[in-house]
Amino acid sequence: MTRTRANDTVATMATSAKLPRGPGIPIAGSTFHYFREPLAFMDAASKLGDIVDLRFFHHRAFLVNEPALIEQVLVKAPGSFHKDMFANELKRVLGEGLLTSEGDFWKRQRRLIQPAFHRDRIAGYAKIMVEHTTRMLDRWRPETTLDLHHEMMKLTSDIVAHALFGGDAADPSEVAWCIEAMMERFGDPIYLMLPILNKLPLPGNRKVGEVRARLDAVVGEFIARGRARPKDAAGGDLLGMLLAARDEDGSRMTDLQVRDEILILFLAGHETTALALSWTFHLLANHPEVERALVDELATVLQGRTPTLEDLPKLRVAEQIVQETLRLYPPAWSLGRQAIEPFTLGGYPFQPGDWLWIIPFALHRDARWFSDPLAFRPTRWADGLAKRLPKGAYLPFGAGPRICIGNQFAMMEAVLLLATIVQRFSLRNDASGPRVEPDPSITLRFKHGLRMGVSARGANSSREALTASAP
Ligand code: HEM
Repeated sequence: MTRTRANDTVATMATSAKLPRGPGIPIAGSTFHYFREPLAFMDAASKLGDIVDLRFFHHRAFLVNEPALIEQVLVKAPGSFHKDMFANELKRVLGEGLLTSEGDFWKRQRRLIQPAFHRDRIAGYAKIMVEHTTRMLDRWRPETTLDLHHEMMKLTSDIVAHALFGGDAADPSEVAWCIEAMMERFGDPIYLMLPILNKLPLPGNRKVGEVRARLDAVVGEFIARGRARPKDAAGGDLLGMLLAARDEDGSRMTDLQVRDEILILFLAGHETTALALSWTFHLLANHPEVERALVDELATVLQGRTPTLEDLPKLRVAEQIVQETLRLYPPAWSLGRQAIEPFTLGGYPFQPGDWLWIIPFALHRDARWFSDPLAFRPTRWADGLAKRLPKGAYLPFGAGPRICIGNQFAMMEAVLLLATIVQRFSLRNDASGPRVEPDPSITLRFKHGLRMGVSARGANSSREALTASAP
């Protein structure tokens, strides 16, 4: 297949008419091909060129697939874009929080919230992370199987609720129901293609209303608890900061603003990390040699004690494993933008309203940047690969001003949780469970869940029953 390089001189003189076209049919364009199998479609389209024309009925959409061009969109000219239609849809349920807001309002809120994620501040969260994990492991029974993704969701939601909002998480099954309902609704292409449907009294829309009401109740509990705390205790965490925050003119955030920010931080702050960990355990179960290297590192560095913040710089193998999982299964597998003004990218003219998609899932599997790209090989990160890669080639947390605010929090959490869990338990594929398959919704989830068998580290009696299948 011939790639069309947007940086070539020929391309610089071309117009959008010359861009390679993604697979599609007349009128509908790529719509049905994309929604039938989003990951395979994007992977195939990304091989056609650095910018690929994907039409979705009348919507002009483009896949941007070259690091320098991606940098231009996310880092150099972010003012030319807003988030895409998925963010707009999300806004209807989650409201205006960091993830969904734009312009000066977003800038002000980001400035306000950023201090909660400063390095010194997140250092204090390490203890909370390990304590919650230890509590979960105390509940686990060796020689059983469990829904690992569910366990990780509960664990990371407890951690974010405790670290940022100073209390226990709400009923996990309530939160899980809301997330499932949102993913189902926002994975449904018909609402994206025909936005008018959002305004009709359809069952899908009624469900959105229900999700919003139920999430309101969850967040309402956080806020009520925050307000009830003695004054000197408030302000110690992000919730206290949000409740006490004053704008330049001295005005407070309204209850609705506080609610929206908390809701988004709570959801964005646990769902992605839970997925990153779940994918990590799935990959480790299929790569016993990598697991062995990790177990050896933990034995040397920790010598049987639970990990602390100070251990982090020494847990290199654990960190490389997380980096490699985020490469192969980036929870935020797709980043979208919508042009708000005319601009030129790689010599091609774009119009306001054009959709631009950047697909970390495809980009991270591109042999131009990663040798043997489909192999799970954490050691590739050992000798400074992250620094050698072109900017824009590895984007698990995005880039530019809208980069994930929780990226250091998430990396610290993933490494600490991985180390704490692997030190005590070995996780295996459940041979009798459903096949593990990615489900590309808003995030990269599991189509049939992730059931895994657990055995206490050192005990290997159940290993024969639980197979390590091929990757
Ligand atoms: C492995 C875990 C995580 C991954 C893979 C991840 C990924 C991302 C990505 C790719 C973006 C940028 C989206 C875009 O440019 O369109 C983002 C934004 C964001 N993330 Fe994360 N994230 C993770 C963990 C967290 C955590 C722990 C928190 C908070 C505690 C968090 C809060 C946010 C927020 C609030 C934004 C919006 C930032 C803004 O637009 O200013 N994320 N995340």
